[in-house]
Amino acid sequence: PLPVARTIADLRAHVSDWRRQGFTVGFVPTMGALHEGHLTLVREAVRRADKVVASVFVNPTQFAAHEDLGTYPRQEAQDAALLAGARCHLLYAPSVEEMYPAGATTTISVGGPAEGLEGAFRPQMFGGVALVVSKLFNQVRPDLAVFGEKDWQQLMVIRRLVRDLDIPVEVVGSPTERDGHGLALSSRNAYLSPVELETARRLNGILAEAGVRASDGVVAAEAWASEALIAAGFDGIDYVAIRKADDLSPFEGAIDAPARILAAAKIGRTRLIDNMAV
Ligand code: PAJ
Repeated sequence: PLPVARTIADLRAHVSDWRRQGFTVGFVPTMGALHEGHLTLVREAVRRADKVVASVFVNPTQFAAHEDLGTYPRQEAQDAALLAGARCHLLYAPSVEEMYPAGATTTISVGGPAEGLEGAFRPQMFGGVALVVSKLFNQVRPDLAVFGEKDWQQLMVIRRLVRDLDIPVEVVGSPTERDGHGLALSSRNAYLSPVELETARRLNGILAEAGVRASDGVVAAEAWASEALIAAGFDGIDYVAIRKADDLSPFEGAIDAPARILAAAKIGRTRLIDNMAV
């Protein structure tokens, strides 16, 4: 069975032992409820490093009070079995008290790629992500860490964080895993009814077509996508935006740099995000 570390001390004992033997260390941070998307990140880390740590920690500091922290799916035994199957070497599953002991007050203020899009609709999120990922990097001290392109803005925020704080880790991006209908795998897909799932599966196709239309005008393509999503059965659109892929700033006129289309939309009470290259 997969070893589990629940404290920073136990985690460091494992990693020090590997370091003494000269192994490189890869790291995959997650919030658990693992699916094939997470497992592709683990396999990528296994390809690139000798030893791989995956963390499962539902991070309270990145959830707002009204969000699904309390009901976020927790299934550690199943996660451990899936990680073992993906050849992960260690599960790190700290408690909230281990991660945030009483008296912890330091926060991280993010900017740049964290502004707008998810940052506008979930103002607490990227600060919370930056804090926990910085702590996890300091706890594990990996050579490399793998993040999914599914959360493109998060990946750009982590790249900026590592650069701005001189954190000695290589950040590796891994492509989005999708179901047979193109729906990006997500732990939150479990909240969808069969009818809602049909609607959810339209998201990636609409974004792909909007990406094609972007060459005729970014604003018109974004508006077309919003209408198409409502027509497909989405109940609300937080944003559909075509942005510069690396810093997520808007285009002033024509697309003259690598571009990404990103969207967040609601079906019932479930909020889905997706993105792809334009
Ligand atoms: P979580 O949502 O559990 O995602 C963990 C990692 O899996 C992230 O890097 C995410 O981009 C990636 N991922 C999720 N679905 C994917 C898919 N369909 N294809 C490829 N990769 C996918 O993101 C977080 O947790 C947290 O914010 C975290 C970084 C762990 C900090 O708390």
